[in-house]
Amino acid sequence: MMNIEQSREHDTVLIIDFGGQYAHLIARRIRELGAYSEILPLPELSREAIERISPRAIILSGSPASLLEREPPIPPEWVLNLGIPVLGICYGHQVIARMMGGTISRASGEYGRTYIRIIRKDPIFEGLGDRDEVWMSHSDHVEKPPKNAEILALSEDIGYIASFRISGKPIYGVQFHPEVSHTRKGRAILENFLRIAGVRKTWNPSNMAERIVKEISMTVREGEKVLCAVSGGVDSTVTAYLVKKAVGDRLIAVFVNHGLLREGEAVEVIENLRRIGIEPLFIDASARFLDALKGVEDPEGKRIIIGRLFGEIFKEIVSRDPSIRWLAQGTTYPDVIESGSRPLSARIKTHHNVGGLPRDLGLGVIEPLRSLYKDEVREIGRSLGIPEEILRRHPFPGPGLAVRIIGEVTKEKLEILRRATSIVEEEIKKTGLYDSLWQVFPVLTNSPWVGVAGDARREGCVVIIRAVESEDGMTADWAKIPYDVLDRISRRITREVPGVTMVAYAITSKPPSTIEPQ
Ligand code: XMP
Repeated sequence: MMNIEQSREHDTVLIIDFGGQYAHLIARRIRELGAYSEILPLPELSREAIERISPRAIILSGSPASLLEREPPIPPEWVLNLGIPVLGICYGHQVIARMMGGTISRASGEYGRTYIRIIRKDPIFEGLGDRDEVWMSHSDHVEKPPKNAEILALSEDIGYIASFRISGKPIYGVQFHPEVSHTRKGRAILENFLRIAGVRKTWNPSNMAERIVKEISMTVREGEKVLCAVSGGVDSTVTAYLVKKAVGDRLIAVFVNHGLLREGEAVEVIENLRRIGIEPLFIDASARFLDALKGVEDPEGKRIIIGRLFGEIFKEIVSRDPSIRWLAQGTTYPDVIESGSRPLSARIKTHHNVGGLPRDLGLGVIEPLRSLYKDEVREIGRSLGIPEEILRRHPFPGPGLAVRIIGEVTKEKLEILRRATSIVEEEIKKTGLYDSLWQVFPVLTNSPWVGVAGDARREGCVVIIRAVESEDGMTADWAKIPYDVLDRISRRITREVPGVTMVAYAITSKPPSTIEPQ
């Protein structure tokens, strides 16, 4: 499998992931500061892994676990004796304290905005005042610090240890979260840590394109073809474009219409691809997908059927052309970490573009975006001159509208959802809100709601609008869309889309909800 090993080229900051929801956020913040970062789930931590990654600095993440549980996740002793600088965040802060002989106990809990008082000067807090605003979220705390620790900061209200350092060593703990934007000087603290650790800032995704293209052209031999499924989304478009630059006409870009697309989407995608010089092989398999989905109500069942059919279609293409030897996929870093390689976190949904396809196609896999976050993919796309409208497109799930229809997918329901989707997208674009949102879309429920039109009763059901802000889709906040915009959307949908008698707005973030309903 081709995978550009960034850790060989850059000073790597390794984030050891204890299953907390912020591991990706930490990794992204480090990259924003210009240094390369990788995430390693705790169960995969070994001396070999450290040797392979050869980190310049280590960050221990937060965790939903508690050190007061019977067998809490704890790294092996040697991690703190490698001579590599370590920063423990939240649970990671407590882990360092416990490993070095301190004690942890139940706290009365500090959640959200909190003030800390810095009681000892240290380079880690350079640029901060004596008192600063941070974001806390913990129910245990370090009661007694390790013997050889210096307490650097205390929380103002309760006086808990907000930060300590092991004397004379670059090993630090912070109880709060420097990676979240609510910690006012969080960025400065992370930057200070990089400086203390001597991490060179060489990470810049926008000049990676040339190297990726070179690597692909060295991987794919003369006469071999590369198959690439394109959806019109950012990841697959950038992937196809990079492959095209590397192998020219030996790229077979395939666009499958599974009949679960939005209004006019098939035409738009093909036009967009043509604009950047890619002529996709178009396969209209709508009837085949809709047929296979008949009577299926279970969300995972739908995802599995759709994934399987994609697999079959690709197998058919490959069997007709033996010179196809490679499959290029737009897998990004969160996909890699999420698709099963995070043992401390459960699989939530079967994202089909990550599972299924490559295993039984017998092709080599090219994943040029494997180490990148979406905004980094956009940066590469920009450096390649791919038009902004394509790069700014909101993510759209591989299984399409099927996961936004609760219950069985039928032609009629698809028609309703398409019309509602067009209205939502149109209104949101009109107000200029589109770019500030990660996604916005309606969901068609199967909950009836009695309507009234004129003097007559009208049968119909509920449509839920989901709009979220997010940095990477891993966590998301529901968007506070102005009431007048929601009002316009509601009026238009109930007026223009037959079969909808109520429009509701989803006000739950991720977690505890997911972004898509299924
Ligand atoms: P959830 O619903 O899991 O979604 O919070 C997180 C992000 O992933 C997108 N998504 C998918 N993308 N294939 C994809 O390519 C899929 O099967 C799939 N399921 C969800 C979702 O739209 C959101 O941006």
